[in-house]
Order: sequence, then structure tokens, then C-alpha cells
Amino acid sequence: RGPDPVTATGQPSGETTETRGQGGPFLTTATGTRLPDTDHSLKAGARGPVLLRDHHLREKITHFDHERIPERVVHARGAAAHGVFRAYGTAANVTKAAFLVKDVETPVFVRFSTVLGSRGSADAVRDTRGFATKFYTSEGIFDLVGNNIPVFFIQDAIKFPDVIHAGKPHPDREIPQAQSAHDTFWDFVSLHTEATHHTLWNMSDRGIPRSYRMMEGFGVHTFRLVAADGATTLVKFHWKPKLGVHSLVWEEAQIINGVDPDFHRRDLADAIEAGAYPAWELGIQIFPDSGDQTYEGIDLLDPTKIVPEELAPVQPIGLLTLDANPINFFAETEQVAFHVGHLVPGIDVTDDPLLAGRLFSYLDTQITRLGGPNFDQLPINRTHAPVNDMLRDGMHQTAVHPGAAPYRPNSLDGGCPFQAPDGYVEVPFPVEAGARGRVAPASYDDHFSQPRMFWLSLSPVEQEHVIAAYTFELSKVYEPAIRERQLKVLAQIDPVLCEEVAAGLGLPVPDGKPETIVDPSPALSQVGRTWPVAG
Ligand code: HEM
Repeated sequence: RGPDPVTATGQPSGETTETRGQGGPFLTTATGTRLPDTDHSLKAGARGPVLLRDHHLREKITHFDHERIPERVVHARGAAAHGVFRAYGTAANVTKAAFLVKDVETPVFVRFSTVLGSRGSADAVRDTRGFATKFYTSEGIFDLVGNNIPVFFIQDAIKFPDVIHAGKPHPDREIPQAQSAHDTFWDFVSLHTEATHHTLWNMSDRGIPRSYRMMEGFGVHTFRLVAADGATTLVKFHWKPKLGVHSLVWEEAQIINGVDPDFHRRDLADAIEAGAYPAWELGIQIFPDSGDQTYEGIDLLDPTKIVPEELAPVQPIGLLTLDANPINFFAETEQVAFHVGHLVPGIDVTDDPLLAGRLFSYLDTQITRLGGPNFDQLPINRTHAPVNDMLRDGMHQTAVHPGAAPYRPNSLDGGCPFQAPDGYVEVPFPVEAGARGRVAPASYDDHFSQPRMFWLSLSPVEQEHVIAAYTFELSKVYEPAIRERQLKVLAQIDPVLCEEVAAGLGLPVPDGKPETIVDPSPALSQVGRTWPVAG
């Protein structure tokens, strides 16, 4: 299965992924001149100098010199597959999205990834996993860009560069490659205690999945669905693997990373090639679109909080099956461009401040990563819906746009594209009036009640794994103050967790009383701004 062969103008191109740019039995130059010899440079005599006039030599080496593009700033290492999504029709009462109508089948492309490692890092590291799905719907592309952990490290996208700077390898020695076991990571998460929930999930078995095929996926943010009659509902998206959720144990992961760093990538490709197609059910938790956007006291705009499934069961709405491997890793897995802003009528975003930053970030970074503004024309990114967009020119433009007047209305081109009455409309949800400021709601200060709930939900064996993970990770931290501060954070989750990890590290149990760290920057401390660390 390849991307639909449609040009950016919506016209069939007549080419497929398989044939694009490659045809005929003979080796040629890039411009189609047949070549009799690609193994010897043009020389003045058998032992003489190589001649500058050898176009084939220069073209071959020049192209090779430019084969690499920047890797993703995060989620650089990934593996992907094509598949199909079939809707059950059970969401039709809450959304008008055409691809969720009963029995509609939509082609999809799914990319799984680690977050922190570079393109060549190992698969079975302790990290969050990306789970990004591109639905090529009849109404345009819908991207569900999620993770295998239902909460995120931070509550506001303005901290995203900071958390990634802390999680990536230290800038002096560029180590460690892909583990969270280092000072800057633990410095950040112990100072920004909103990260406690996500970090606890990382330290649990969820941080080392057995297989991409055996992971859950989460949209994390709350989305707003719009029904045909305009009624709105708040939802959280969940992917539930048909194979169940399975993890590695730490010792297995350590061995696998040495023996087969491509373990997850190979597992996915081999399973699909063997016809053991992995499948996930897509489900939604549904919440009334109340004015305050909370459910049972939980702030639905806080991406560090879940809504327990006991309070809002996940209702299945369709089945995803991955049934074809990419033909070319670079053209598909590497060049695919996901974006949380790729929405279709019936699905809207909410005012989660983390989501707001993402809505800016993906397109922005892809302009650098994919070399200009026209990457929507790359085969893997092409929509299956007709395109008539008035976007013109730019680096790597491949469409040949007819006409003289890319603006509307115009009276020159025999008419112009109509604005569609049934097109995408942002829900006119009222915004909260208030003074402008760099502020957050009081509910964002609760950093520990949900980590405690998660810890208490684990079985004794799972709790042992969490204790072992914190002990291993913190044993790699050089700075004693960071270890002690993180132990105080653990005490706020559960005293036993703190005691066990402290014992493993050979450290005393710190005084778990709430304390605060005053930010050293003068502007903030002047106004008395403090960060709760253990309170
Ligand atoms: C990439 C998920 C938060 C910026 C990705 C990818 C996933 C993902 C799955 C990989 C996409 C792929 O496979 O190509 C998430 C989730 C988040 C989150 C679930 C929080 C709930 C953020 C935030 C920012 C951000 C807050 C920035 C403000 C990026 C960037 C990339 C990326 C720049 C690389 C995109 C590319 O080069 O194509 N994210 N992310 N993410 N994310 Fe996020």
C-alpha cells in the first residue's frame, strides 16, 4: 500500500510510490542519459588524474553528499507501517467526522518512536514512545499524534525546549544517548514537580514496552468533538492493542539493546511481513462539554492528569490494522510530517496550553527538517482529498499550478475556488475573560495525587520494578542534592517508595516535609514567586 498518487493540485499523477523516478531497465544519469560504466571515473590514462569534466562522477558524489536531512528534534528514532482504520459507527452521535461513520475504511500511516534518542539509538531503552497516526480521510488528513503514556511532563508548551534540553544528552560530552539516567533529567523533573506523574509512568514497566504491537496509545490532551447538529462533547482518545499490554523487564532490555538495537523495529516489520497484522481499537472517554471543562473535579485542560477509566469508561469507536511495511524508510518513515493541527470537520482542539504550543511547533520544525514549505506534496504526506489551496511556489515546489490568479475572488481564471459552507469551522467556544498574565489555574498545582493513585494501582511486582528503576536511574546521578531532592519528591508519592529507593541508594530517608525552592532569578524572587517541590 503506497500513498495515493495524487498531485498537490488534486490531479492523478499516474505514478505510484514504486515507479516514481525509477523506470526502464538501464542505469541512467538523473536526467535519463544511459550509462555504460558507473565503476570507473573518467581519467587521463589508466594511472592518470581524474578529469573534472566527468559529469557522472560529480553528479553521483554530489547527490550522495546531500543524502541526509536533519533528524527530528525529538522522536528522531522511529518505525512505521501502513494500514487501515475501520469505524464502528459508535462515535457518529458525537462527531460528524466522515471517517467515523459505520464501516468507513480509511488508509492510515502510523509511526512509532522513542523520544530522546537520536536516529541510530537503541530501541529498548527506558523512554516514552510516540504513537502517531495519519488518517487519509475523504475530508482531508487527520493526525492523532499521541504517546504510549497518557500524561505529559509539563503543563505548558513554553517549557518544552527546557524539558527536552534536560532530557537530551549532556551538551558537553553528548552522553548518555538515550537513557534518562543523568543529572540534567533528574534536576529538571525534581524541580518541576508537575513532571512527577509522567516520570513515574516512565519508571514503571510502561517505560520499556515488549513491542510496539503491545503498547497502548493516548491522545493525551482533551479534544472537542462536534456532532452534525452542532452539539459538542469533550473526549480523550485511547488506542488499545489487541495483543494486550506487555513490557520487558530491565535485564531483558539491557541485553536486547546490546544484542539487537533494532529489536522493536524488526519486531514490527517481521510481524507484518509474516501476516501477523497488529491491531488496536480506538476508543474515547466522553465528558460533557461543561463550561468549566472539568470532569469529577479533574481539570480536562491539564495534560498531566488522566481521568480514571472507572469514572469514564473507554468506548470503542473503530479498529486499526497495520498490514503493510513501508517500501522506502526515507521516503515514508523519515519524511512523514504529523501535525496536531491536521483536523477534519467534527474534531476540534481545546485550550490546553501544551496543545497550543504543539499547534505552532510541528509545522515550524518541519519547514527546517523537510526543506521548505512544500512537504505536504511529498507522497507520504499527500492528502487523499482534492486540494485547491492557493499556496504557491517555494522551495521544492513540485506541482505545476495552472492559472494566473491564485487569490479569491478573481475574475480571470474562469472562476475561483468556492469557500465551502460545510468546511472546517472552529467551535465558537467562549474564552474565559480575565487579566492577561503568565498564569495557570490553581488546579495545576496538584502534582502528586494522581502519581499516588497510579502507584497504588500497581501490583507488588510492578511496584518492585518501579523501585528498581528509580534506584538504578538515581544511582547514575552525580550531584547529591539532585538525588536528595528527588527522594523528597518520591516521599510525596508514597513513603514506602521513598524508603525503598533511599535504601537501594544507601542514603538516609530525607525529611519529607513540604519545602519550596525559591527561584534564583531576581525578577521572580522579587515578586516572591516560589515553586512547590514537596508540598
Ligand atoms: C514529534 C508526541 C508535546 C514538539 C512528536 C512525535 C510524537 C509526539 C508522537 C513524533 C512524530 C513522528 O513520528 O514523526 C507528542 C505528545 C506531546 C508532545 C503526545 C504531549 C502531549 C510536544 C510539545 C512540543 C512538541 C509541547 C513543542 C512545543 C514536537 C516536535 C516534534 C515532535 C518539534 C518533531 C516533529 C517532526 O520533526 O516531524 N511529538 N509531543 N511536542 N514533537 Fe511532540
